[in-house]
Amino acid sequence: MLTLRGRGPRRGEALSNLGIVKDGALLIQDGRLVGVGPRAKIEKFAEARLAEKLDVGGRVILPGFVDSHTHLIHAGSRAEEYELKIAGASYEEIARKGGGILNSVKKLRAATSEALKHRALTTLREFAAHGTTTIEAKSGYGLDVSSELRILGLHQELNRAQPVEIVSTFLGAHVVPAEYRGTPDGPQRYVALLINRLIPEVAERRLAEFCDVFCDRGAFSRAQSEQILEAGKRHGLIPRLHAEQLTRTGATQLAVELGAASCDHLEQVNQADIRALAKSKTVATLLPGCDFHLGFKHYAPARGLIKGGAIVALATDYNPGTSPTLSMAMILSLACTQLRMTPAEGIAAATINAAYALRREKEIGSLEVGKLADIGVFEVEDYREIPYYFGVNKCWMTVKQGEVVFRASDVGAIA
Ligand code: NIG
Ligand code: FE
Repeated sequence: MLTLRGRGPRRGEALSNLGIVKDGALLIQDGRLVGVGPRAKIEKFAEARLAEKLDVGGRVILPGFVDSHTHLIHAGSRAEEYELKIAGASYEEIARKGGGILNSVKKLRAATSEALKHRALTTLREFAAHGTTTIEAKSGYGLDVSSELRILGLHQELNRAQPVEIVSTFLGAHVVPAEYRGTPDGPQRYVALLINRLIPEVAERRLAEFCDVFCDRGAFSRAQSEQILEAGKRHGLIPRLHAEQLTRTGATQLAVELGAASCDHLEQVNQADIRALAKSKTVATLLPGCDFHLGFKHYAPARGLIKGGAIVALATDYNPGTSPTLSMAMILSLACTQLRMTPAEGIAAATINAAYALRREKEIGSLEVGKLADIGVFEVEDYREIPYYFGVNKCWMTVKQGEVVFRASDVGAIA
């Protein structure tokens, strides 16, 4: 049993400390952990005698994965662009021709809410089936008032009816939508729409906790990002940023200055950025699924970030353009082989540090008394086998707030 106990978030060498208990047991009451430790000890608790027992055999138990960066709500894949990329077109070229994010915007605006909800619900069940119990979800494929509000409304609606908790982020600043691109002042008018109209309404209706901006070439500048995130802050939305993915814009330094919860991607960071992150509480969230899917050879400098003392987290960035995966185990495989993180570092980055990135480290991310009983059980003998096996799902059971929400035996994956 990997408890991940101890004071979060983890930096440097502490990232490797999984708090392993051999032959462990958990006692759960009303969705929370009331006992965590060696089985012999937990069995002596008075409540344990009356409790329903669930034997997971010799399998590995860990906190449910926390996926702190996803673009859950979208209308369909971009498989057509996948082929163009394989043939040699770049992600940015495709975007300049009206593909990319704008392609997904067109698809989403044309989709019914019913269809979006159905797709998201199916996906959320798949997240649960891969051992994930909490996800962050961003808007950002609507890019007009009604479509953005529709996406955030779906986050709220879906939170009530399915097995995975959704933490909602407003990403109206994903790119400038087509209808604001014709004139020189168009982009700034869109920024004004975000600041004066959308952010106040999102905050007022409590449709999101966080505000995000895609700060990059072809999206928003550092100055625009600052305006948008400052406006969000004034309305109580906590900043986070897509930073230094395709080009270095200074977004990381901005994230630190604003006290952002996280800055994500970081392929292009320099030494000064790493030093700034190391001194801050802003989480460096790495998304190696993007580089893998886009066929990039250059990944974020995970070893430098860990050595420098930054708080490193891992997430899928589940989205149709750059990272169509919802498997945290696959992300761990990439973290190990491409980012040179150890399996232990990867697991801490995908649980306790990711919980910290969502400001939920007191509730989730480790197996400790008082926290929610959010648990993943894997069909492996050694936790290192979770990243070692890649492209297959070894999740055997998932528990959300004490309820079994996925069992491999139910789908016949494992007899
Ligand atoms: O995190 N970088 C911005 N957003 C997504 C990509 C979105 C898309 O291509 O649809 C990302 O990689
Ligand atoms: Fe993203």
